Amino acid sequence: MRSLEGRVAVVTGGASGIGAGIAAVLAREHARVVVADTDATAAGRLVQELHGQGLEAIAIEVDVVDRGAVEEMAAATLDRWGRIDILAANAGIYPQATVAEIEDELLDRIMDVNLKGALHSIQACLPAMRQRRYGRVVLTSSITGNLVGAAGFAGYGASKAAMLGLMRGLALEVVGEHITINAILPGNVRTAGFEALEPAYKEQILRAIPMGRLAEPEDLGWAVRFLASEEAGYITGQTLVLDGGQVLPEGAP
Ligand code: NAI
Repeated sequence: MRSLEGRVAVVTGGASGIGAGIAAVLAREHARVVVADTDATAAGRLVQELHGQGLEAIAIEVDVVDRGAVEEMAAATLDRWGRIDILAANAGIYPQATVAEIEDELLDRIMDVNLKGALHSIQACLPAMRQRRYGRVVLTSSITGNLVGAAGFAGYGASKAAMLGLMRGLALEVVGEHITINAILPGNVRTAGFEALEPAYKEQILRAIPMGRLAEPEDLGWAVRFLASEEAGYITGQTLVLDGGQVLPEGAP
């Protein structure tokens, strides 16, 4: 697979968890990486680590809900490196609430970050991709809502399914411009966000994974690396499940 040398990659929610795994893999594969996150401290820390390994990265503080801030993030990237080739729209939240508990404010917040955040990021980065007639957009969706349901995550699942509707429409809008958009569907990943969930829920999840372990953030990073490659240019509007076999069993494992 050709190196990502010369490519510029923006990773939203890149400071920790899955996003940090994506940022680290893309940087090691020689992309210049923008670690874009609300948590400027964590983003700065990761960038320092990458610099320590001789890799190229910058941190940009951004809230993907804020359209203006996301546009500034794209402008700052272009100021620095003059191009955007890859967008990993990964920032997301997964608050736990049953359907009986979901207030409008909570659903709005989930949709704002997970769906509108991805839309804002795409809208801000797309003009630079169109200008060079090249782009790779990779969304972090989820198996939840698309392939499986989880009690307490109906609102979240709805947002992750909505992201795929966005993806399929956009894939066709840019199909003639050498720009692809695909989505990774992680199962359950060892991140701070996952660790913060209820212990009983986490135990139940672990028992359901045939491989017997959670995904590591870099497992997702490698999938993004593939979908972001030149060689993946004939793949668009598709999903890639990374779940250690979680959705495979016909009966209880
Ligand atoms: P995390 O909570 O460990 O990390 C998320 C990162 O995104 C943090 O650095 C946070 O500061 C940043 N972020 C949150 N809201 C933001 C905003 N409005 N603007 C910019 N940055 C923001 O989460 P994790 O687990 O790494 O999840 C990342 C993505 O992966 C999410 O979209 C999540 O839905 C998805 N996912 C996670 C799974 C898991 O098991 N951890 C499974 C399936 C999907």
